[in-house]
Amino acid sequence: SKKHKVTVVGSGNWGSTIAKIVAENTKEHPELFEEKVQMWVYEEDITLPKDSKYYDSSNDGPQKLTTLINKHHENVKYLPNITLPSNLIANPSVEDAVANSSILIFNLPHQFIARICKQLEGKILPFARGISCIKGVEVTSSEISLFSEWIGEGLGIYCGALSGANIANEIAAEKWSETTIAYDPPPVDSRAATPTVSPGASQINLTITPADEEHRDVLGRVSKIKLKALPSDYPPLDHAVFKTLFHRPYFHVRVVSDVAGVSLGGALKNIVALAAGFVDGRGWGDNAKAAVMRVGLLEMVQFGKEFFGKTVNTGTFTEESCGVADLITSCSGGRNFRCAKMAVERGVSVEEVEASELNGQKLQGTSTAKEVNSFLLARGKVDDYPLFKAVIDILEGKNTVDDIPDLLSRQID
Ligand code: NAD
Ligand code: 13P
Repeated sequence: SKKHKVTVVGSGNWGSTIAKIVAENTKEHPELFEEKVQMWVYEEDITLPKDSKYYDSSNDGPQKLTTLINKHHENVKYLPNITLPSNLIANPSVEDAVANSSILIFNLPHQFIARICKQLEGKILPFARGISCIKGVEVTSSEISLFSEWIGEGLGIYCGALSGANIANEIAAEKWSETTIAYDPPPVDSRAATPTVSPGASQINLTITPADEEHRDVLGRVSKIKLKALPSDYPPLDHAVFKTLFHRPYFHVRVVSDVAGVSLGGALKNIVALAAGFVDGRGWGDNAKAAVMRVGLLEMVQFGKEFFGKTVNTGTFTEESCGVADLITSCSGGRNFRCAKMAVERGVSVEEVEASELNGQKLQGTSTAKEVNSFLLARGKVDDYPLFKAVIDILEGKNTVDDIPDLLSRQID
């Protein structure tokens, strides 16, 4: 019988960490997975500094990042000083990396996913399943999509989500933590299964029951995915298998069904983390930061209920790692928080701090603040979310941090 081949699409700070986790697990579970895990790397040239442990005076020019990862089992740029498993293979070709993989893990800054998905159309196994680790939302005019559903619809596969209180460097160093996976594929219409098996074909085409409003109705839309059944010679892809793929002694996994709640928590907390950084950078201390987090959590829940109400569960925000716990860790040591804080302290823009301090890593909060704002503007709802509005207005120079108490007065006073 077949085994699942796993590919991680992305190799940044979190991409490399998740790739490490799944490669450790595929090695330990040969009954379910092929041992080798492919990791797509956005190729770049790296010149190692003289004090690098890998510096070689006979080869001191630029080298490909993929070559360095495969030779030294370390992502020297995005996850330095962490040893990656030797069964993790860095691959500069995304088409080659996903070939014949039945499990695709999407893990890259959300601003780059559209182009990658375009490249993947028609190149993946039609019955593959995805997990999106991306924290952000996709906004077009007055529509908003979760990356899980947007990737799924674009590639014609089902895609779940993984999100939690997960600062990558801590997890890469194997410090204890937890996460949330949401996986809730729609039921298949068995009536559609019967006629579509051709002799020798290992897959059966199954379609989603069209009236499956409960599963797919986000902003009133019904999914366009024509879900293909997994061939019967593969191990089933259920909650237990995803838990086996991601759970480590240092990375505990809870699997739930609320894909919208899990995805929105990870996206919206980045806006709140910027606000927390602003007030902390202004020197207002922990009480102000906690006030911003409280109001931020309320707006996250309100947003989920208002726009994803048919599927979202308030408990996902208040009880799971992907909700309140991610908000707390992100407002303590996350990059959005740290960069916003430094920006206020130095009197420069958040983008300037991102460019000077993150060595190529990307913030998600600045673009998410903009995307959520344009969605709320198009829906005529922007004033119902004063914290989200305050963040974009501060980023765009229309307000300053000193305006925050007034801007939030409705929620506070
Ligand atoms: P990152 O911030 O380290 O970003 C750098 C990555 O972007 C590198 O792999 C780089 O090669 C790639 N890149 C740069 N330019 C590109 C281009 N033009 N096209 C394609 N790729 C390009 O990335 P990350 O930390 O792995 O974040 C991925 C996702 O994971 C984000 O949505 C983030 O919110 C989420 N996340 C991050 C963390 C964390 O602590 N880093 C934790 C949880 C979730
Ligand atoms: P930052 O992208 O702000 O570092 O947040 C990391 C994160 O998502 C922690 O869960």
